[in-house]
Amino acid sequence: MNKNINVSFFNTRKNPLVISLSLILIPIGVLLDFYIFRDRTLILTYIPMMIAVGLFFQSTLSIILFSFVSTILLFINSPEEWTIEVSLARWLFYFLIAFVIKILIDNLRKEKETLINLTSTLAVSLDARDQYTAFHSRNVAYYSREIARAMNKTTKICDDIYIGGLLHDIGKIGVPESILNKPSRLTEREFNQIKQHPQIGYDILQYISYFKKNGILDIVLYHHEKYDGTGYPYGLKGENIPLVARIISVSDAFDAMTSQRTYRERNTIEHALQEIRNGRGKQFDPYIANVFLNLIERGQIDVCATNNEPMKQES
Ligand SMILES: [Fe+2]
Repeated sequence: MNKNINVSFFNTRKNPLVISLSLILIPIGVLLDFYIFRDRTLILTYIPMMIAVGLFFQSTLSIILFSFVSTILLFINSPEEWTIEVSLARWLFYFLIAFVIKILIDNLRKEKETLINLTSTLAVSLDARDQYTAFHSRNVAYYSREIARAMNKTTKICDDIYIGGLLHDIGKIGVPESILNKPSRLTEREFNQIKQHPQIGYDILQYISYFKKNGILDIVLYHHEKYDGTGYPYGLKGENIPLVARIISVSDAFDAMTSQRTYRERNTIEHALQEIRNGRGKQFDPYIANVFLNLIERGQIDVCATNNEPMKQES
């Protein structure tokens, strides 16, 4: 499952466009220095330039070189101020600005990588128990992120919804396999056990502050709430259900209908879409359901695979 988890945190440093832009910072800095900010060079030209270098470059050697070049340029521009002490102090000053920014960004990136690894580990542990859920979680994550993109949500919110989609059923870890994989209809008692999974998932993840702050716990706890208030575990209604959970709810229902389960064959896509249409204002937020229906009707998202096929490539 790891290889399918695709979250775009802090990939900018590997982007050739960003690197090229960074490389043209020096001539821009020189032009500004010579023609515009001649008497306030230190603050207005080289400091922003070194901050940008720290943001975009991972290599300490690059930062040393950039700060060295900046010092030389400053000397060329103002030769009358040059002494070894002043040049060394300036070089160190520029280096430290970029280096501190680099360390801060590295720490942030490592935190995100840890989060992705944690998400992968949790998702893999659920896959190990229930193969259906493995594909289902990835499909739900994919659909939900596409819905969020169509609603013009930020990249960060879209990524958080993707993570929430991967983890939304994590509470099924606490439901016996005999119930999860039961080939026949569930008894009321068994269904009540299944209904515990949002709360179990919440209990498992509640101490991870990133999940709490960014709506992922809301997804886990509220993804079975219904727009008309007939869902579980709390019977929340309408916009009292967090938006992220309302998005997951549409994707979850669609994928559940179009995937093959142990106790029934999958429905046709048209049948599933009709169920989503009929559920507007009842099970689903009507606006979000319409966004999803439009995406499918316009072919802007692929209808994902069932429980025995690989998921289609994401854009
Ligand atoms: Fe669920």
